[in-house]
Amino acid sequence: MKIEKDEAKILSGVRLGKTMGSPITILVPNHSTDFFNKVVTVPRPGHADLAGALKYGQKDVRNILERASARETAARVAIGAICQKFLSEFKIKVTGSVNHIGGETDKNKWKAMIDQARRSGDTLGGVFEVIVSNCPPGLGSHTQWDRRLDGSLSQALMSIQAVKGVEIGLGFVQTELLGSQVHDEIIYNKGKFSRKTNHAGGIEGGMTNGEPIIIRAAMKPISTLTKPLKSVDLRTKRAVNAFVERSDVTAVEAAAVVGEAAVAFEIGRALIEKFGGDSLAEIKNNYFSYQKRLRMI
Ligand SMILES: Cc1cc2nc3c(=O)[nH]c(=O)nc-3n(C[C@H](O)[C@H](O)[C@H](O)COP(=O)(O)O)c2cc1C
Repeated sequence: MKIEKDEAKILSGVRLGKTMGSPITILVPNHSTDFFNKVVTVPRPGHADLAGALKYGQKDVRNILERASARETAARVAIGAICQKFLSEFKIKVTGSVNHIGGETDKNKWKAMIDQARRSGDTLGGVFEVIVSNCPPGLGSHTQWDRRLDGSLSQALMSIQAVKGVEIGLGFVQTELLGSQVHDEIIYNKGKFSRKTNHAGGIEGGMTNGEPIIIRAAMKPISTLTKPLKSVDLRTKRAVNAFVERSDVTAVEAAAVVGEAAVAFEIGRALIEKFGGDSLAEIKNNYFSYQKRLRMI
């Protein structure tokens, strides 16, 4: 909910505006702690509440829900900013945006839809998209399943709370098309391989192919409804309305920001894996000699 007035304070790892190689610690204080001591015994459908209470033997669902909260993503966004800064040294840019909210692609209609959902005590989901531009070919690897970039990007996005689906390039739509309509023909122009189209979303064989990475994530409607769904009190086992915690109607826009950070982190990691060195200058040196080699193929 938009009540957080976040400030990020860097506690370690940075000196005179530059990283030093030691771990970077960023503190983002939580100001909204008024609910923290309030016991909750009614799990909310769509949340970690019941599964977490059963798994960890808790009757007070607060012990589960505070940690399961997407508030955790503030940390990922803070680190994502550092990754973006690193990637900008290589002119790589990661941009997140909202594709649709509740199936509606027309931005002008979103506010009215959200207001309507709020009035009826309901919530909305949607799809956000993250594009990585100017990514070199060869990040990730086909040689081992756990080094495939499509795999690590999907896990990074799927790990964001409420994300229930991830697709790259044409994604699910391509299952309804012919191979000739899907695969991107290769061309060679001005000393560079490229494609006529980018249906693959910039990744083939678990590696970047030099085209922009296009990845989308599907977010389910927010789980907390102000017109609550039915649940059961963990103490009395009686049917009751689900507990209502403060909540937004939709968070697709915020999730797009988190998605941007999650993707920036994975691209940064893949870049370091391929070009890693002990200083930015060394990484750049490795990067540019690779670029030179690509031009000589
Ligand atoms: C940026 C962001 C903000 C969210 N805000 C809320 C919220 O205000 N209220 C809520 O009930 N769920 C919110 N969620 C979703 C819950 O965290 C999520 O539904 C819950 O963790 C269960 O989803 P899961 O099964 O995918 O973990 C938010 C998710 C994200 C990514």
